Amino acid sequence: MDRFIVRPGAQLHGTVRAGGAKNSALKLMAACLLAPGRHVLAGVPRIVDVDIMAEVLGAIGARVARRPDAPDGGPGELVVETPEALVPAAPYELVERMRASVVVLGPLLARCGQATVALPGGDDFGSRPVDIHLHGLSTLGAEFETVHGNVVGRVPGAPGARLVGQRVVFEYPSHTATDNVLMAAVLAKGTTVIENAAREPEVADLAAFLGRMGARIRGAGTSRIEVDGCDELRPAPEPYRVVPDRVVSATLFAAVGLAGGEVVVEDARIDHMDMVVRKMGEIGVAVLQTPEGLRASAQGRLHSVDVATLPYPGVATDYKPFLVTMLCVADGVGIVTENLFSGRFRYVDELRRMGADVRTEGHHAVVRGVRRLSGAPVRAPDLRAGAALVLAGMVAEGETVVSGAGHIDRGYEDLAATLRSLGADVTRA
Ligand code: EPU
Repeated sequence: MDRFIVRPGAQLHGTVRAGGAKNSALKLMAACLLAPGRHVLAGVPRIVDVDIMAEVLGAIGARVARRPDAPDGGPGELVVETPEALVPAAPYELVERMRASVVVLGPLLARCGQATVALPGGDDFGSRPVDIHLHGLSTLGAEFETVHGNVVGRVPGAPGARLVGQRVVFEYPSHTATDNVLMAAVLAKGTTVIENAAREPEVADLAAFLGRMGARIRGAGTSRIEVDGCDELRPAPEPYRVVPDRVVSATLFAAVGLAGGEVVVEDARIDHMDMVVRKMGEIGVAVLQTPEGLRASAQGRLHSVDVATLPYPGVATDYKPFLVTMLCVADGVGIVTENLFSGRFRYVDELRRMGADVRTEGHHAVVRGVRRLSGAPVRAPDLRAGAALVLAGMVAEGETVVSGAGHIDRGYEDLAATLRSLGADVTRA
């Protein structure tokens, strides 16, 4: 089942849920390492990256199990049992499969005073260094060396030694570096201040979860986070529900833009999606808050706009493949600038195979809208670009076969079934 088979279909209509955010759930799972005992997370999506993170936690000594699905068909609660003694290592076989595994570094240093985490390699969309993570954790007192492809960190004086709260100034508001330093700081001695912190809603979600575990954090969701370190944390008393996935919501809004129609995403949070909702509006997809959820509707041809990706609250790089796909069939010319990941235009070659008129030059793409795309066999180069190619197939004449579906399964519960439930002609083979 490595392929999506897509044919143009009817307009989309119906109501769906986005589900819990991958980029929060993975960090909440890592945060469970910070306190021994039984942690319960609700709304963790059934996606491959969550399975990989469960394996990472398993290698560290925690047990991860899923309870049966909820009555509404949503994913059952995820239970993480964290033992007193951990194995402070994340092996290469797992980190290689999922770069986000690096977020166990902060919790392991905080809990064990040491951590060996395989160095993540590059991604399909460019080099992904971890220097900002290491700088932040070093500021709290950790020492690092690279040994046989692993980052080996320790807190001098361990066992028993703790990190020490400090002022950490990030040169760039890296999302996962903020997660890592936040999770290290909650068990450090004294107060940590993170300046130029990432402001993503998923960072605020992690801080809220840590707060339920007893951590003292102020300012999460802003660029200055303050943390008063605690001696110990405990599992949150109630199941903690993961924040909804804004990238899945945006995927569905883009699908409506391309196919036309009207779709409600019940759990989507408009306050987490200001910029992309504004861009969608300019392109021709109206997104409105209603009592049922966020309602996206579109009719007729889309309009071209310029787009530049920026750290949150700017237009996220994760939305870009969907926006580019919409511009491919919009009226006019749009200039798209990627400011985060150097290689995140590689999927454009695949869109060109479908008849799109896109020219890339370094960090920029010039997209001239054409009336219709033409179905072709294409390959998903990464998660979000893969989903965008599926959407492109929905407005391409004939059949589009998107291979490399495994990339898409990393972050979408069952994208084909979700789109089919709205009337699209998308299957797996
Ligand atoms: N960077 C460095 N050094 C570092 C860390 C980052 O130079 O130590 C650079 C990166 O190379 C990149 C930029 O900073 O150019 C942005 O990286 P950031 O660290 O903010 O991204 P991330 O934390 O690695 C998360 C999401 C990504 C999402 C980005 C941007 C997770 C697991 N991943 O990555 O999501 O694109 O933030 O918002 O939270 C995805 O879901 O498919 C995905 C890739």
